[in-house]
Amino acid sequence: MSGDESLDICELLLTAQIYNESQELNEDDIPPNIRKHYWNKKEKGVKRPISVSESDVESIYGIKNARRCVTSLPFVEFEDFGERLRMTVFDLGAKWLERHGVDRIQKNPVLAYYYENNDMSISYSQAKMANRPKEVDREWIDSLINEVVEEGEDARDVLKLVHIVAPEEVKQTLNEIVLTKEQEGKISKIVKAIEYRDYLQQIGLREIGKLLFVGPPGTGKTSTARALSERLKLPFLEVKLSMTVSHFLGETSKNVDKVFELAKRLSPCILFIDEFDFVAKTRTSDEHAALKRAVNTLLKCIDEISLVNDGVLLIGATNHPKLLDNAVWRRFDEIVMFPLPDKVMRQEILTKILASIEGSIDAADIAQRTDGYTGSDLRLLLREAVLNALIEERTTLTHEDLVKAVDAFKDRTDMKIMEGHE
Ligand SMILES: Nc1ncnc2c1ncn2[C@@H]1O[C@H](COP(=O)(O)OP(=O)(O)O)[C@@H](O)[C@H]1O
Ligand SMILES: [Mg+2]
Repeated sequence: MSGDESLDICELLLTAQIYNESQELNEDDIPPNIRKHYWNKKEKGVKRPISVSESDVESIYGIKNARRCVTSLPFVEFEDFGERLRMTVFDLGAKWLERHGVDRIQKNPVLAYYYENNDMSISYSQAKMANRPKEVDREWIDSLINEVVEEGEDARDVLKLVHIVAPEEVKQTLNEIVLTKEQEGKISKIVKAIEYRDYLQQIGLREIGKLLFVGPPGTGKTSTARALSERLKLPFLEVKLSMTVSHFLGETSKNVDKVFELAKRLSPCILFIDEFDFVAKTRTSDEHAALKRAVNTLLKCIDEISLVNDGVLLIGATNHPKLLDNAVWRRFDEIVMFPLPDKVMRQEILTKILASIEGSIDAADIAQRTDGYTGSDLRLLLREAVLNALIEERTTLTHEDLVKAVDAFKDRTDMKIMEGHE
């Protein structure tokens, strides 16, 4: 048995007991691994009392035999006839953890709350600030969705139009995306606006919180929008506009309405509307009355939704800005351009994506050779190089591997151009 396992069990037992007895503590005080395990979807929270069983210990920490682990902890016992673990003498357990696992106490707000009074080195508010809030968890979003589902058929249907991502599920953070100075500036502004939402409401400043991301495919629009959800700790609702078009065209307009209603229900959140140019396409094609109505509904919904009042940050994205007319442009407070990366940016992107790969590669030289490549192309390039090296049983890349991949990639793009793809 490793020492860590008894620390895990002791931390859990103390956390459970302190949480149970301290009504002033809430879900945001519990460390995410414990919180997620005891989350109650219907109650949208962690119900008291928390009890600790062998299977709880297994599912939180992967500890298979809690019974054996606790033999070295004289202050823990298994209750008769059950698999429940219990602290026999609370103070002994508390002293033991202070001696062996003070770092855990510093990171666990529930524990810090209890120890703070006796131990100068422990601060509840610091522990709380470092603890991830519940809004980042998948479980939180599932609770919100559950409320919507319980409202019935109609509400359930709208969930089919929207893809919902929890902040903790976002794979690429803002630090891993290379942005231009201008992009960085605009993104910092929106981060601040959300932080100071109450203030903005107070002074009546409402023209903020509608962004349009414009640029060729593969330049990081979707990734940046998702990364914002991770940074801001807000649920991410993704809609592809083409998906809202119903077989029954009459429904399309209603679908648009429902998506915005859902965003308001799940607020604060980010509503990301991809393929924004779809709006334009429907306008120039046959002008089907129903589609026209849907477009008008969309524009109206955009007008009516507000970051300051509704807590919904709206981000549109388009690959075809030329298709958008003024009626659309002027509804966004901020246009963020996603250009093809220049040489310096390409080098930075390469450096980031090569960071976890072994080998000595001259990123500057590859950047030089990849004029016109998007961030997405650079990732594909690397994939090609990695797979080719694997065929030779190598997990270390050489510069030559990447140069070869560039050549192969060139052939492929030439072919795409011949076939008339984008
Ligand atoms: N500037 C960039 N920095 C880092 N990665 C990038 C950048 N641009 C694109 N990528 C990567 O390329 C892939 C595709 O990007 P994506 O966000 O889907 O582009 P878009 O939505 O503009 O089509 C993602 O894996 C993304 O991380
Ligand atoms: Mg995209």
